[in-house]
Amino acid sequence: MMTSQREEVTIADVHGREILDSRGNPTVAVTVVTSSGVVGEACVPSGASTGIHEAVELRDGDPRRYGGKGVLRAVANVNGPLRDAVAGMPVTAQRDIDERLRALDGTPNKSRLGANAILGVSLAAAHAAAHVEGVPLFRWLGGRDALTLPVPMMNVINGGKHAEGALQFQECMIVPLGAPTLREAVRYGAEVFHALGRELKKKGYPTTVGDEGGYAPPLRHIEEALGLMSDAIAAAGYAPGREIAFALDPAASEFYADGAYNAIAGEPPRSASQMIDLYEKLLDAFPIVSIEDGLAQEDWAGWREMTARLGRRIQLVGDDLFVTNVSFLQRGIDEGVANAILVKLNQIGTLSETIDAVRLAQSAGYNAIISHRSGETGDTTIADVAVGLSAGQIKTGSLSRSDRVEKYNRLMAIEEMVGTAAKYPGAGVFGACSSVVRAAGS
Ligand code: PGA
Ligand code: ZN
Repeated sequence: MMTSQREEVTIADVHGREILDSRGNPTVAVTVVTSSGVVGEACVPSGASTGIHEAVELRDGDPRRYGGKGVLRAVANVNGPLRDAVAGMPVTAQRDIDERLRALDGTPNKSRLGANAILGVSLAAAHAAAHVEGVPLFRWLGGRDALTLPVPMMNVINGGKHAEGALQFQECMIVPLGAPTLREAVRYGAEVFHALGRELKKKGYPTTVGDEGGYAPPLRHIEEALGLMSDAIAAAGYAPGREIAFALDPAASEFYADGAYNAIAGEPPRSASQMIDLYEKLLDAFPIVSIEDGLAQEDWAGWREMTARLGRRIQLVGDDLFVTNVSFLQRGIDEGVANAILVKLNQIGTLSETIDAVRLAQSAGYNAIISHRSGETGDTTIADVAVGLSAGQIKTGSLSRSDRVEKYNRLMAIEEMVGTAAKYPGAGVFGACSSVVRAAGS
């Protein structure tokens, strides 16, 4: 956070309301108004394949409204206790604000007042502070050092909990690491997305999309998905591995039962070691640079083996495993588990704690990927957070649907604001991974 010259501007009012997310479920929107009349707004996202240790999303449970998914209690907490707690505080004192919100809740997982309520206030305050300072949010967060645009992982084939009846693996992503700029990365991604649509049509598959705007064909085996993506990349005029690589988020916690993984429909369950065998086979056949939640959140022994076997070849990302929480991340660092963290603001519930998780990752040599949720809104805060914290990577879905595309549009605007000083790290963010070196040289 930059140092402020205007500590005297305080929070005058906080207002929450119930809105809808991209799945048509209720979520929380918050407006913060300062004593100088400046306004900051934020909308909170919502996950479907949530980690068991995430901060708690408070829902009403009243079956007469939205099937129990209403958030009027969380909204009432914004408009009551949370508002009272931060009213009068300097709006630029983000850490103090977040600490006050956390202390008021008083639980380790924000279950009393709701992480959805708390995060809404935290982010709306950050937006208001940036406006007060007269700078875009990414610059308020990162100052003059905020020059690095993130490499996107674009989820072009949706499965798992984001597309019923489709692939077991939740996310098959393309990573335009050979693009010279973010703007070009977006173009590469969109061209491949459309080429993939044509490939699917040619093979008689539907081209309807899942929760994150990627196609959701009823494929059985992950190899089919990666094969179709390779064809699409070639059809769009790119070389798989050179301009565009692959990333996977199997979201393995979702198909882990009784100590085994039901990774591929119709095949016997696999042990952790057999899952790693499968990943090794995929790495040999396709230019994969990153696997997220390749094993389940409770399978720490499996994760240690996976990191030992694959950690020098590719990026191994903990999402459900770390839930943007410094305690879980520290355990991972201590035990040699994973080498990257997925960062979702609503997994932890305040901006300051999110920043702590990113800083801990960066200081330990772990990569950090700022991420959306499968339930999103038009809110583009994560684009600014990715640049503001120099995270180097973002995961924000496919190249269709406004809830996903708005983040790419914001990143392109940020790149323009940063101007000639803007950096797009490309393959550099995967520096130590031998699969990237191999792919680039092939
Ligand atoms: P979620 O999934 O937002 O539905 O939890 C995203 C992910 O697993 O990365
Ligand atoms: Zn995930």
